Amino acid sequence: MPARASLYRRPAPDPEEEDVDQPRPFLKWAGGKWALAPQLTKLLPADLGKRTYREPFLGGGAVFFYLSTHRPPKRAFLSDALRDLVLTYEVVRDELPALVAELDRLRLTHDDEQFYRVRDAFNDKSVGGRAVRAAWLIYLNKTCYNGLFRTNRSGHFNVPVGRFTKPRIVHPERLVACSRALRGVSLKAQTFDHLVEDAQRGDVIYFDPPYVPVSRTANFASYSLGAFGLEDQERLAGVFRQLDQRGCKLVLSNSDTEDVRRLYKGFELKRIEVRRNISANGSTRGVINELVVRNTARW
Ligand SMILES: C[S@@+](CC[C@H](N)C(=O)[O-])C[C@H]1O[C@@H](n2cnc3c(N)ncnc32)[C@H](O)[C@@H]1O
Repeated sequence: MPARASLYRRPAPDPEEEDVDQPRPFLKWAGGKWALAPQLTKLLPADLGKRTYREPFLGGGAVFFYLSTHRPPKRAFLSDALRDLVLTYEVVRDELPALVAELDRLRLTHDDEQFYRVRDAFNDKSVGGRAVRAAWLIYLNKTCYNGLFRTNRSGHFNVPVGRFTKPRIVHPERLVACSRALRGVSLKAQTFDHLVEDAQRGDVIYFDPPYVPVSRTANFASYSLGAFGLEDQERLAGVFRQLDQRGCKLVLSNSDTEDVRRLYKGFELKRIEVRRNISANGSTRGVINELVVRNTARW
């Protein structure tokens, strides 16, 4: 009996402790696709290794990091509308020692008072050099309440402190692996519309926009409060059609709603089941159907 009891007490494996020397998201991100990456990346074109890959809604970068070890594309262009997020990726790629030193300092002196001091400094856009601002973003992301990094489009961060006495923040080995994966990758802070100028025929593009809410209360687009409404979804569908005409190879994730099915009518729609963990009130946990849209007729 005692042996069995100890089995039950064994803590669940902490995903943060797995494969620390492998590239994987170093931020907790609403709508993050790490768990789904093996399934999703199978839906990308077979010739990805010979293609330019674009990811215009980068977030935590789960799909890119998964691809970097399993199916690296020839070139990668990553972007997101959140300027400070893109700056953080640039610093991970280019200024790792300064970033790790700053994170270590913040980790050792973490308390509520420091959290709010850093939050104020982060929200004052004129304060802090590049590496310091990137360290602040990672620190706030890892110590804030529920790990929900909610900002508005200008990057104003307003989440209170979470209950962590000794937050790990992030493994330096993981940052080293991510830095290596980002070498030679182009990063840009820009909205998805810019794809129309940048993308070429044959490019592979994976879109993971803030989702169309499945109900009025389930708002997964909480990393950019109120920023991505139905009008944006419609503009995005317009860009998708334009890039389809151009001969790009397109894959897009969204929630399985009537709006999404209407917007992408005529393309291949694949329904997949996803377990969601991030929700502000807990009511939207559980299995939710997700839609993957592809223009396979062009592949
Ligand atoms: C669902 S998340 C992407 C999650 C990512 N695939 C991952 O695995 O972590 C959507 C991202 O779109 C970004 N975003 C919101 N509006 C945008 C816009 N108009 N153009 C480009 N990116 C935008 C958000 O900052 C957020 O990082």
